Amino acid sequence: MKGVVLAGGTGSRLYPLTRVTNKHLLPVGRYPMIYHPLMRLRRAGILEVVIVTSPEHMGDVVNLLGSGSRLGLDLTYRVQDEPGGIAQALNLCKTFVGDSSFIVALGDNILGEDITDEVAAFREQTAKGSGARVLLKEVHDPERYGVPEIVDGRITRVVEKPDSPPSSYSVIGIYFYDSSVFDLISTLTPSRRGELEISDVSNMYAAAGTLTHGVLSSWWGDAGTFDGLEEANKLSRDLFYEELGGEGAR
Ligand code: DAU
Repeated sequence: MKGVVLAGGTGSRLYPLTRVTNKHLLPVGRYPMIYHPLMRLRRAGILEVVIVTSPEHMGDVVNLLGSGSRLGLDLTYRVQDEPGGIAQALNLCKTFVGDSSFIVALGDNILGEDITDEVAAFREQTAKGSGARVLLKEVHDPERYGVPEIVDGRITRVVEKPDSPPSSYSVIGIYFYDSSVFDLISTLTPSRRGELEISDVSNMYAAAGTLTHGVLSSWWGDAGTFDGLEEANKLSRDLFYEELGGEGAR
């Protein structure tokens, strides 16, 4: 299975920290933020990964990660010219992914647990048919995220940053898709904030009855805000140090 890491966007919620650098290069624990999604993929055996980022920061991201060989990864890069949303960034990976099912990780999501079992669950799902899978985490502030409505154990819809959240879960930034996702993205129109929304993609799979989900048991953080960044820093202080040590930072 191939992997996608989305590291575009403006990082405007972290200004001025992100005025001259990319959000995903800011420190989280002992490493730049983007190491976290990359290492989660690596631990799950996903070594062939495409990274999407903005033209302003592509040079810095490539300077940091290169071919990926230092991290045991095989990296490819795509430029997102304008920050038109997560689904738009994902669409740039169509030729990289081809006809296979794949996994997407948002570059600012920091997970405290391994996702190997989730990869296996999605492999099983696509062996029997098709569809998508999302991961959920119970949170105290669901209105900040994409929030699922769950009826009889299934997600019926996902509402992006709702005023009245239909549950206390967040859809976190790890998504599994079959390759039909690109046909679905081509039918999307921009949301009120002018972006192609990943929650709209989830809604199309939910409507087709092919959206499954797993629930995280350990901590999870979205490091895209000051509070989130601070918390992620604390929680991930020693994460990956055993396998990377200072090596990954050279
Ligand atoms: O963290 C989980 C949440 O992430 C989900 O619950 C939401 O449903 C999902 O929309 C997303 O919400 P955010 O408002 O946190 O998304 P943000 O704009 O911060 O983008 C998340 C990552 O996606 C970011 O680290 C880089 C990438 N991205 C984002 C945009 C808008 C791109 O690569 N290109 C883009 O144009």
